Amino acid sequence: MRILFHAAGHKPAPWLEGLKAALPEAAVAEWAPGAPPADYAVVWAPSQQMLDEQPQLKALFNTGAGVDALLQLRLPPHAQLVRLDDAGMSVQMAEFVCQAVIRHFRELDGYEADMRAGKWSFRKPRLRAEWPVGVMGLGVLGARVARALQQFEFTVNGWSRSPRQLEGVRCFAGRGQLDDFLAASRILVCLLPLTPDTENILDRHTLGRLMPGGYLVNAARGRHLVEPDLLALLEQGQLAGATLDVLREEPPPPEHPFWRHPRITLTPHTSARTLRDESIAQIAGKIRAMERGEPVAGVVDRTRGY
Ligand code: NAP
Ligand code: GLV
Repeated sequence: MRILFHAAGHKPAPWLEGLKAALPEAAVAEWAPGAPPADYAVVWAPSQQMLDEQPQLKALFNTGAGVDALLQLRLPPHAQLVRLDDAGMSVQMAEFVCQAVIRHFRELDGYEADMRAGKWSFRKPRLRAEWPVGVMGLGVLGARVARALQQFEFTVNGWSRSPRQLEGVRCFAGRGQLDDFLAASRILVCLLPLTPDTENILDRHTLGRLMPGGYLVNAARGRHLVEPDLLALLEQGQLAGATLDVLREEPPPPEHPFWRHPRITLTPHTSARTLRDESIAQIAGKIRAMERGEPVAGVVDRTRGY
């Protein structure tokens, strides 16, 4: 069995070592032009040349959860696309979203600014019941986040493409129930995959339907958000602020208004990082399962886009 590694932004040596240790029976190599045909490839943002040179690949393992960039490429026709299915990401995402929600709900930005100004003063405690959180996307990450928010006794609403049932979560599904989901939520958390159906979904119409003084947490993809619409809603006071882990252009250009916006908190696409050891273990387990002819989790439906 031959496995190629071709993942932009990843140091190859530890990945190659890890894959060799997990699959000692396989020949594992970093891809270079003209590499002999392989069975499997482990990729992140691979080059089109690599994909064109390897039409026989049985599966491409994406070293991330989102496959939107991969689906923009011309892919080997019969290769299954397999995304990371948690592999240590969901607990990171739960940490990230809970801190963003709690930071806003508890007005910690304001308290920190007060402290820096030498001001020892109190704000009226907010009523948790007035801060329902809506989670868009109830997949591997969204369901974990919803569960974590419940631990802090937030009211949690969830929205997915097909109907879901999550204990204690008021679940909505499909475009037909989107407006009701938004109207019932004050803090909106986006954990959707980026697909033709979800691109630009965070626009003035959807964000404008949140309860007054709404707050946005986008930890999915920058292209979900129509950035000028967010700025307009912040300006109008319809939204109170946003935490954005992802942007349309990463990093944004120096003149981008989000860098210094007083009500936007930015992080550099770091809410749920790929953890190498967990990812290698998951990929190796799936390769073994595929070799045995067994189904694996996280296979992407190319027509659905996730
Ligand atoms: P997932 O398990 O595939 O879950 C996707 C969820 O979105 C599902 O509940 C799905 O509905 C829902 N959905 C998809 N299209 C929809 C639509 N048109 N309308 C309503 N709901 C829709 O994905 P995941 O592992 O949770 O990851 C989600 C995304 O997070 C990734 O695609 C990636 O873009 C992003 N991400 C970001 C970071 C970061 O560091 N910022 C890290 C990892 C992932 P169904 O349940 O009906 O299928
Ligand atoms: C990161 O954004 C991922 O999709 O894993």
